[in-house]
Amino acid sequence: MEAYKVQQHKYDVIVVGAGGAGLRATFGLAEKGLKAACITKVFPTRSHTVAAQGGISAALGNMGEDDWRFHFYDTIKGSDWLGDQDAIEYMCREAIPAIIELEHYGVPFSRTEEGKIYQRPFGGMTTHYGKGTAQRTCAAADRTGHAILHTLYQQALAHDATFFIEYFAIDLIFDEEGVCRGVLALDMNEGTLHVFRGHAVVMATGGYGRAYFSATSAHTCTGDGGGMVLRAGLPLQDMEFVQFHPTGIYGAGCLITEGVRGEGGFLTNSNGERFMERYAPNAKDLASRDVVSRAMTIEIREGRGVGPNKDHIHLNLMHLGSEVIHERLPGIAESARIFAGVDVTKEPIPVLPTVHYNMGGIPTNYHGEVVTKRDDNPDSIVPGLFAIGEAACVSVHGANRLGSNSLLDLVVFGRAVSHRCAELIKPDTPHKDLAPTALDKALGRFDALRHADGGTPTAQIRASMQTTMQSDAAVFRTGETLKEGVAKISDVYDSFKDVKVSDRSMVWNSDLIETLELSNLLAQAVATMHSAEQRPESRGAHAREDFPDRDDHEWQKHTLVWVDEKGKSSFDFRPVHMYTLTDDVEVVPPKKRVY
Ligand code: FUM
Repeated sequence: MEAYKVQQHKYDVIVVGAGGAGLRATFGLAEKGLKAACITKVFPTRSHTVAAQGGISAALGNMGEDDWRFHFYDTIKGSDWLGDQDAIEYMCREAIPAIIELEHYGVPFSRTEEGKIYQRPFGGMTTHYGKGTAQRTCAAADRTGHAILHTLYQQALAHDATFFIEYFAIDLIFDEEGVCRGVLALDMNEGTLHVFRGHAVVMATGGYGRAYFSATSAHTCTGDGGGMVLRAGLPLQDMEFVQFHPTGIYGAGCLITEGVRGEGGFLTNSNGERFMERYAPNAKDLASRDVVSRAMTIEIREGRGVGPNKDHIHLNLMHLGSEVIHERLPGIAESARIFAGVDVTKEPIPVLPTVHYNMGGIPTNYHGEVVTKRDDNPDSIVPGLFAIGEAACVSVHGANRLGSNSLLDLVVFGRAVSHRCAELIKPDTPHKDLAPTALDKALGRFDALRHADGGTPTAQIRASMQTTMQSDAAVFRTGETLKEGVAKISDVYDSFKDVKVSDRSMVWNSDLIETLELSNLLAQAVATMHSAEQRPESRGAHAREDFPDRDDHEWQKHTLVWVDEKGKSSFDFRPVHMYTLTDDVEVVPPKKRVY
């Protein structure tokens, strides 16, 4: 192995990732007097949160009656009773102060006539426990993620946080007692290696949408934290639950916000029919995303898709008029023009369900502490390790996330981690020395990949993974497609042994970085397909045609999946938290989920 020089940095807390969750945590930590470093593979304001459009939920009640308890109920129902009710209570209650804080930090929210934060309806959001429609999603036109990300980065700079920009995190570093002590990273500008020591490491590395061929996620969404956690011998949770957003632009995959339907847009099939009325008579186009994506898929399968190949659906917003479109949905008008060649004031947008969000991820409690099942304790904490945002599975989204609960999850749990670290860590506590061999495994793997000289290019393996995931871990699944998917994805995983890295330079845009990312994606693709195969029921985004019903008796439980170096998976389970933190809300028992 090449002898690498590794530079050492010491901080109280290391945050990996600078999206909404990472930035909210970084600046919260700095605000509390902790020495915080944020390492990020892209410039912070280019993190994928920038692409979030429609808004962030909180029961502010600015547009009519609302209550955080209604939000709590909707989120549990949206999760198809797989969400942990203690964590959901925490998120929905804390949503209100978290949004008011964002407003004070300077997020330029759209406004009502009276100057309050503007809120629009989103799917599955109701008042009075399913009876009315809530306008709960706080919006900055259709660029809410962009507005939040820029504000949080400005706040982090205003406090004393340190950023290491364009650093790729390679692996977590643990001591002999299993305490996470830091992270090994590569400076992609200089091509140098660094170990960042922290009393806590916070994974805020986002989702792994790029395991699929067509996703609203950026090319950078490779779930690097999930890959690192699996390599550390820890499990991921609920990986079978992958959200398809109903309205990705046909052919391009770019997101068209649910805010379009919130503002009154609707879907039609080739007969011009508003088909959602048949599938969700009350909520119609604002049913939850899994329900709408399945309805669209059925329409297409039964021959009522639009276009020459009858393979997509129309999203209509012409009737909203150019004033509403230009005030509330300007980004959508632009995306539709660029990516679909459509003038939204005159024509419908061609859309198709597109991979958008991972409900599964690194299991945590509501403080953001990573948990695993150990010695029969399903909530055993992994010391020194935290996870937040899409990288994590708290689990507030369960089997299906409601639109606009994602930006909320980022800020609420980014904030929660900073509170928890401030409780646990005294600023400037000295670091214990690491054993001389502590970095050996991570460096050995890095070196082996860097010099990988097989016969299969990285891009070829990635393409096989993406097409397999797209066809076999889709909106609808069967035992047969999943069995085939398990065999195919295992073959793709094996083919990585033969990977050829053609550009070994340790800098941005090299094939090496793409290969490191692919190794993270592959392990999570295996985790997803294998987890989906072993769950014989339909719940939220996991729709099994051979098991169309939810089976609460056997399967109201979280899947834990481990994937070893050979790509073999093993499973265990954690119970869903059917308890609340306070008596302010009551546990919502499972019932039939209709919209
Ligand atoms: O449709 C959207 O604007 C996406 C929002 C979300 O995923 O929360």
